[in-house]
Amino acid sequence: MVISERQCQTTLARLQQLLEKRYPEAVNLPEWEAFADRLKNTFPTLLPHLLELYGHHFDFYYHLERLLEVMASAWLDRSPELKSIDVMREADPSWYQSGHLVGAMAYVDLFSDDLKGLLDRIPYLKELGITYLHLMPIYKTPEGDDDGGYAVSSYREIDPDLGVMEDLEELSQELRRQGISLVLDFVFNHTSDEHEWAVKAREGDETYQGYYLMFNSRAEAQEYEQNLRDIFPNERPGSFTYLTRLKKWVWTTFHIYQWDLNYRNPEVFNAMVTEMLFLSNAGVEILRMDAVPFVWKQKGTNCENLPEAHTVIQAFNAVARIVAPGMVFKSEAIVAPDEIRKYMGVNECQISYNPLLMALLWESLATRSAKLLRHSMEKRFSVPDGCAWVNYIRSHDDIGWGFDNTDAYEVGIDPHGHRKFLTDFYIGRHESTFAQGEPFQEDPNTGDARVCGTTASLCGLQKALAENDEKEIEFSLRRILLIHGVTFTIGGIPLVYLGEEIGMLNDYNFREELDKEGDSRWLHRPKFDWDKAELRNEDGTAEQTIYEGFLKLNQLRVNNAALARGETEIVDTGNEHVFGYFRTADDQSILCLANFSDRPQTVAAPRLRQLGLKKVLVDIIAGQTVIAAKQLEMEPLQFMVLLRQGG
Ligand code: GLC
Repeated sequence: MVISERQCQTTLARLQQLLEKRYPEAVNLPEWEAFADRLKNTFPTLLPHLLELYGHHFDFYYHLERLLEVMASAWLDRSPELKSIDVMREADPSWYQSGHLVGAMAYVDLFSDDLKGLLDRIPYLKELGITYLHLMPIYKTPEGDDDGGYAVSSYREIDPDLGVMEDLEELSQELRRQGISLVLDFVFNHTSDEHEWAVKAREGDETYQGYYLMFNSRAEAQEYEQNLRDIFPNERPGSFTYLTRLKKWVWTTFHIYQWDLNYRNPEVFNAMVTEMLFLSNAGVEILRMDAVPFVWKQKGTNCENLPEAHTVIQAFNAVARIVAPGMVFKSEAIVAPDEIRKYMGVNECQISYNPLLMALLWESLATRSAKLLRHSMEKRFSVPDGCAWVNYIRSHDDIGWGFDNTDAYEVGIDPHGHRKFLTDFYIGRHESTFAQGEPFQEDPNTGDARVCGTTASLCGLQKALAENDEKEIEFSLRRILLIHGVTFTIGGIPLVYLGEEIGMLNDYNFREELDKEGDSRWLHRPKFDWDKAELRNEDGTAEQTIYEGFLKLNQLRVNNAALARGETEIVDTGNEHVFGYFRTADDQSILCLANFSDRPQTVAAPRLRQLGLKKVLVDIIAGQTVIAAKQLEMEPLQFMVLLRQGG
C-alpha cells in the first residue's frame, strides 16, 4: 500500500495529538522535544513498513495508535541514564564501528553461577579487554529442556536460578560504568509453550491462539511442511506439533516446546515491540535478533528469508530508532551467504554474525589451504555502509558448512563431497585429522551433519594432550591463535566464546543429563573452569600461551587504528596456503598473513613488491624485523601482522 507524504504527515499529526492527550505529563518534559523530533524523522520510514505488513487489516489505525502508545510509554519509562546514552549515540551513530568493541559471550550459570556472581567476574573481562558482553538467554524458561534458554516463557522475568530483574539492572549499570556494552537476545520468532500467551491459547482463548500459527488439520500444515527444511532433523523431524487438547497443529520450527509467533497478526507485532522496548530499558545496547530468517511464513515457499521477514525487522528497527536509539541490532542469520548480508543495513541490523568466515576458517585449517577462504572473502567480505561483522570462531551453536556452492565450484571444489569431508574431519572420522568433535543433527535422509566441539578440541589440543605429543600440542596452540588472529584483525567486532581464551576442552558430561543428552551442542558449552583460568598466569602453560596471544591481539587493535577500524582488502599472496589482507586507515597500511599449512611457507618477494612492500618489514605479532629479500618465510601455522619499517 502506497501512502503520500501528506497522508503520512496528517497521520503523524493525529497520532501526536493522541499521545499528548494520553500522556499530558510527557509533553512538559524537556526531552519530549527530542522524542517528538525522532518520531517525526522516523515515522515516514516506519509507517510504510507497517502498511506493507498490516495495511489490509480493517483496524490498521487502531493497532497503529496502540503501537504509538506502547512506544511513548516505554520512552517515559526509560531511565535518564539510558536517555543520555541515546543522545550520545545519536551524535555518533556508528559507534559500534569505532573498533573499540571486543566481544565475549557466555552462559551466566556456566560462567559465574548467577547474575550477582558475574559482577565479581567483571575484572576478568576487563583484563581480557572485553567491551561487549553477550549473555545467553537469561529469561524464565520451562523446567528441563529449554534449548539452552531459547524457549522463553517471559521476557520480563529472569530465570530464578540466575537472579531477579534487579540483579540484571545492577549488572547492566555496572557493565556500563566499566565500559562494557550489554548484549541480550531478542528471541522473537517463538515463545516457549509456557509463555502466558501460549498458556492462554492452550486453554482455548482464541485471541491468543491468533498469536501463534495453528492449523485444524495435518493436511493444512502439510501444505507448508512440504517445502520446509528440518532444523533439528534427528531430534524432532518436521515443523509442526500436535496439541491434543486443542486438536490443532501448532507451528514449531525448532523444538516442540517453541511455538512460532504469528507476525501476520498486528497484535503480535505490538506485543513483541512492548517486550523489545522492555529489554532496551533494561540497558541492552546490542540486541541479538535470534533466528531472523524464520519470522515470516508464506505457503509455497520454504518460509525462510522472505521479504516480509526483513520488513518486520526494519519496522522493529524504526521503533528502536525512535524510542531507544542507543540500541543497535545484531542479526543471527545462519543461512546461505547471499542471504546473510541482506539482513544488514543501518535500517535493519547494523551488525551481523559472520558465519561464513567462521566456517571457512575451519575449512582452511582442515584443508591447510586458504583457496576457498580467499575467494569467498574477496566476493563477500564487504558490508553495507554503517554496518559491521561480528567475527567469531565458536559460538554456543554447531558449525555448519554454509559456504556458497558456486564459490566452491569456482575454485575447483565439489561442495557436496567437501562438506562431507569437513564433517568427517572434525568429528574425527578422517585419518588426517587433529580434531575431536562430534556430529550434530546428522540427517539420515541426506547424510548432512553439522559439527560440535570447543575451539581447543577442534584445533587438536585435546588429542595432542591425550597422546602427549609435544609437537602437536604446539601446533594446536598455533591453530587457535592463527584463526583468532584473523577474527581480531580482519575488520569488524571480534567475539570470543568465554573459555576459548584458556583452551577449554570438550565437556562430555551432557551425555549423563536427561535435559541435554540429545543435544551435542552441550559438548562445547563446558562450565567455565576458574582453576584452569588461573594457569594463565603460570609460565609455560598452554593456558598462558593462548591467553597471552589473545591479549596481544587485543593490544594490537588498541595500538593500531588500521587493525581496529580500517578498510579491508583481501589479497592474493600467490601461495594458496597463505591467506592475506590489508587493513588501511588514515596513512597506516598493515598486511596480515595467515599460513594455514603445518609446513613452512613462503610468499615470493615480487609478490610483496606488487603489494607495495619493501624488503624490510616489522612483524608486530612476533615483535621482530623481517627481511624479505627473495621471499618472506613463514613458519607452520604462523600469523603475521606486517608493518613497513618505520610505521
Ligand atoms: C538460534 C540459537 C540457537 C537456538 C535457535 C532457536 O539459532 O542460536 O541456539 O536453538 O535460535 O531459538
